[in-house]
Amino acid sequence: MSELLKITDFSVNYKIGKKQLSAIKNVDLTVNEGEITAVVGESGCGKSTLAYSIVQLLDKRKSSVSGSILYQGKELVGLKAKEMVKIRGKEIGFIFQNPLDSLNPVIKSGNQVVEAICLDGIDRKTAFEKTQTLYERVKMSDPLHQMSQYPHELSGGMRQRVMISMMVSREPKLLIADEPTTALDVTIEAEILQLLSELKEKNNTSVLLITHNLGVVSKIADKVAVMYAGQIVEFGKTEDVLKNPSHPYTQMLLKAIPKGTKHDVKLESIPGTVPRFYDTNQGCRFYNRCPMAQKKCEAFAPEKVKIDNIHYCYCHLLGGEHVEGTTD
Ligand SMILES: Nc1ncnc2c1ncn2[C@@H]1O[C@H](COP(=O)(O)OP(=O)(O)OP(=O)(O)O)[C@@H](O)[C@H]1O
Ligand SMILES: [Mg+2]
Repeated sequence: MSELLKITDFSVNYKIGKKQLSAIKNVDLTVNEGEITAVVGESGCGKSTLAYSIVQLLDKRKSSVSGSILYQGKELVGLKAKEMVKIRGKEIGFIFQNPLDSLNPVIKSGNQVVEAICLDGIDRKTAFEKTQTLYERVKMSDPLHQMSQYPHELSGGMRQRVMISMMVSREPKLLIADEPTTALDVTIEAEILQLLSELKEKNNTSVLLITHNLGVVSKIADKVAVMYAGQIVEFGKTEDVLKNPSHPYTQMLLKAIPKGTKHDVKLESIPGTVPRFYDTNQGCRFYNRCPMAQKKCEAFAPEKVKIDNIHYCYCHLLGGEHVEGTTD
């Protein structure tokens, strides 16, 4: 399977006063064509920062980036703004957690999708028909009616469908979805996840799915990258990582998935919070929360260890073959 997006040794620092906050550090991640790759981790671990930086949505005055992000072999880091405009939307679509942030409140929902389609030189009549078809595809109950409604007249699930229609309308090769279902109830969540899977199956669209929920990952992701404090600590095929979680953080995240019915929830919370790194620390970033931490964990950063096939983990506690290079 060919690589669509290849992120190598990528780091992001936020400027906070005179300090630098290291939000992403030395991330390697590859998204293949026609696959759903999930990035999972707790709040504050840098998922959105990573997603936003791919399409240059970070404020350049308040952040600095280094490393490489290749999209179909083209370097996106440092790409001129006018070049990025050609890629954002057309090549890489972005679905935000809260669709109200990106939908215009004073334009009818359907017109917003029509306008997006017209950006590619398509006439309004064709764009209108295409929008109607897209609304049917994302399972809007009454497409013509919902096209004539303003965003505030639609439910949260419907707004997310408008957002997805708009992003899909230009047939991007890669969709970045930043917590697309977090604000929705479980039934709508299941429908939206189903939609993303269909896009992958029917259009060969690749999806980079950002979530804090391993339950969501297990339902639709082909591959998963577990992120902690700005670093990827484990990567592999979803089934491999879920069956054989190798990093102590992944193991703790898995224990924190609610089990049983709504009335019988056994949730083990993970003690502590994701730290913020203002200096370049030497050791493992999970050190102070890891129940198995040893002296060397504080002193040295762990190397990449191959677990199996394309399953990798960064942890001192694992023996095994140390490997160089990117996660694929
Ligand atoms: N614009 C910013 N300026 C300064 N610090 C920021 C900025 N945006 C994010 N951060 C910090 O960077 C770190 C990573 O934040 P980010 O929003 O990427 O995390 P996240 O994994 O997406 O969290 P969540 O699950 O809550 O959305 C956090 O410590 C956050 O406080
Ligand atoms: Mg986020």
